[in-house]
Amino acid sequence: MMHKGLKGVVATETRISHIDGEKGQLIYRGYDAKVLAGKCTFEEVAYLLWYGHLPDKDELLWLNEELRKNRFLSEEMKTIITLLPRSMDVMSVLRTAISAESGYGEYHFPPTISQAIKLTAIIPTIIAFRKRALEGVEDVSPRSDLAHVENYLYMLTGEVPQYAHAKALESYMILTLEHGMNASTFSARVTASTESDIVSAVTSAIGTMKGPLHGGAPSGVIELLDDISSAKNAEKVIREKLTRGEKLMGFGHRVYKTHDPRAVALKTKIKELGGQDDWLDLAMEVENIAITLLEKFKPGRALYTNVEFYAAAIMKAIDLEPELFTPTFTASRVVGWTAHILEQAEDNTIYRPESRYVGEIF
Ligand code: ACO
Repeated sequence: MMHKGLKGVVATETRISHIDGEKGQLIYRGYDAKVLAGKCTFEEVAYLLWYGHLPDKDELLWLNEELRKNRFLSEEMKTIITLLPRSMDVMSVLRTAISAESGYGEYHFPPTISQAIKLTAIIPTIIAFRKRALEGVEDVSPRSDLAHVENYLYMLTGEVPQYAHAKALESYMILTLEHGMNASTFSARVTASTESDIVSAVTSAIGTMKGPLHGGAPSGVIELLDDISSAKNAEKVIREKLTRGEKLMGFGHRVYKTHDPRAVALKTKIKELGGQDDWLDLAMEVENIAITLLEKFKPGRALYTNVEFYAAAIMKAIDLEPELFTPTFTASRVVGWTAHILEQAEDNTIYRPESRYVGEIF
């Protein structure tokens, strides 16, 4: 029996997260991700995913310190990033820079939590360094007194972010830290299953994350909303897209057959953020019209907004440029990838599915 796209195939057991696609529930190590996003920091939830329990005060201080001291890029890394062609998109820069990082640290198999922390710590710095280099402005060194997400926004702009902006982005990042056997996590686990190193596994995952059907969706959401531009055009534009057989970015999910709980949590968060009401109103109207039309064009497929729809809204509200959406998603998902790489190494079997030959035999 063939399972195209491995739909419905259970390829491993995991203790890291659980998704109930019917109930619309996402669990990280036993805790509801929505609840965690409402009361924990990025660092606390990262600790939970790596270690399997929430940190006590000393454990959290330790992780904060580790992340802070590992944020800095070496001069060699800065040179590598600067030499990459200007036309290279940020995800490709990230993939190349992370790959180069293996030359500047100890990343041999088996993977360790220290290696995971290092990769998590430098990804925001690489993104910010590249963005500022392209703009022709001086890079902003990480600040050790700022938390992980706050420092990321600070390195992008050179200004300490508004509290509400940092908190909104932190909620998004917590809600996207981990999501079971999604395409990029699967890539990471496949690479790790060959006993390759953690940098290679994360590099595979970044390449997978980049695609528009996975992490590349948020900028597609902005394009969709820009195309629509006003609620009065929504029905016509969406109908035309669906008639042409196009997919609506930010809708549909392999696992959720009801509302994506991350989209629901982010929608609430963005209402708290305020200040972008016209844009948010448009997003909500488009959501309603699109769901109705999707049910007409694709009856019974249960297509609702996914996390990327409201992620785009959050990132637009805090003035992140669309080209930073997928890299920012990567800056959070690296925690889930590395937790899975560690888990894979603990009880490894190499991934090696089969294919059915449908060509000729001469
Ligand atoms: N717009 C229009 N039709 C859709 C959409 C959509 N967004 N999503 C699914 N469909 C349709 C498919 O065309 C298919 O129709 P068919 O049965 O007539 O062939 C049916 O619904 C089932 O969809 P599949 O593509 O088979 O579902 P699958 O589980 O393979 O794909 C995916 C899930 C890739 C997320 C898909 O819904 C999609 O492409 N969405 C748009 C891109 C997107 O938003 N990606 C972000 C996902 S979240 C994340 O990765 C973090």
